[in-house]
Amino acid sequence: MSVIETVNLRKRYGPLEALKGVSLRVEKGQIYGLLGQNGAGKTTLIKILLGIVRLTDGEARLLGEPAGTVHVRRKVGYLPEDHQFPTYHTGYSLMDFYGSVYGVPADARRKKIPEALELVGIAGRMHSKIKTYSKGMKQRLGIAQALMHEPELIILDEPTDGVDPMGRKEIRELMSRLKEKGHTIFLNSHLLGEVELICDRVAILQRGELVREGTVAELTKQKGQYRLRLADGQAFPTDAVAALGYAAQPVAERPGLIEVALNEGQTIDPVVKLLADRGLNLRHLVENKQSLEDVFMKTVESAEPGVDRKKQRRGARPVGGKD
Ligand SMILES: Nc1ncnc2c1ncn2[C@@H]1O[C@H](COP(=O)(O)OP(=O)(O)OP(=O)(O)O)[C@@H](O)[C@H]1O
Ligand SMILES: [Mg+2]
Repeated sequence: MSVIETVNLRKRYGPLEALKGVSLRVEKGQIYGLLGQNGAGKTTLIKILLGIVRLTDGEARLLGEPAGTVHVRRKVGYLPEDHQFPTYHTGYSLMDFYGSVYGVPADARRKKIPEALELVGIAGRMHSKIKTYSKGMKQRLGIAQALMHEPELIILDEPTDGVDPMGRKEIRELMSRLKEKGHTIFLNSHLLGEVELICDRVAILQRGELVREGTVAELTKQKGQYRLRLADGQAFPTDAVAALGYAAQPVAERPGLIEVALNEGQTIDPVVKLLADRGLNLRHLVENKQSLEDVFMKTVESAEPGVDRKKQRRGARPVGGKD
């Protein structure tokens, strides 16, 4: 049984089709990232899963039940996007309030609240009013609130929004621990570097359509390109390598680094042998991997040519021009 399953999910807001038939599955113990530009439909999908918004067509199931029932909602922790907690609460009293909403008994709440706040690093301020919290502290409180009832599924809409780099690392570590404990995490983020570090699988939504889906490793794999570097002062024998049938060229702005592209059926080994035969010393050799950000940009660009206008402007500038 999948923790989340949507089948041909559609949502219309009047004339606007925010989701155009999205099918995806999230399995137990995964950290799953949903990516997409502003307005792609990420929050809409999350709100359908939680029963905050009604689907127009298709199916959405959580833990084997139709999404949105009260019963299944209790097994889910949710950090909303742009949450506004009542600021007259203290961190502690807010947690106590949400705990009671989720049906956590009072004595369990007394034990659980300091633990959860400790986990996100704000236990020291739990008796201060929320209005005295920084943005990052409010975000951490929001995450703690989503963990209060030990939910099987944790849905986080932009979990590290406004959190400093150290705090983001702590939140990533927290997510890893929750995953180890068997929780499933579904998150939504614009920080692709972070998603790449933490997620098992990702889906890319583009104007309501799922355009890519897979493990981070699958999506970022870029076969047939290597980068290599020789020992200091040694010149790369581009012509001899070209004579073997390989295209090799220096990597712009990375002195000494050479990129070798393989054709179908070629391996890098003949190049390595040629270098050794010539007494050259290989100091670095890695198969190219693209970042999740590269994948995202290419996906968005191919789905909507011209979207990445900033890049085009950069390309048109003379070398050395400022952004
Ligand atoms: N209640 C609503 N009524 C009408 N249109 C809506 C409503 N909620 C969302 N939309 C529209 O649906 C589309 C998807 O919005 P959604 O909030 O799901 O995007 P998102 O991917 O979460 O974007 P962001 O990254 O900016 O948070 C947008 O065009 C948005 O304007
Ligand atoms: Mg959103």
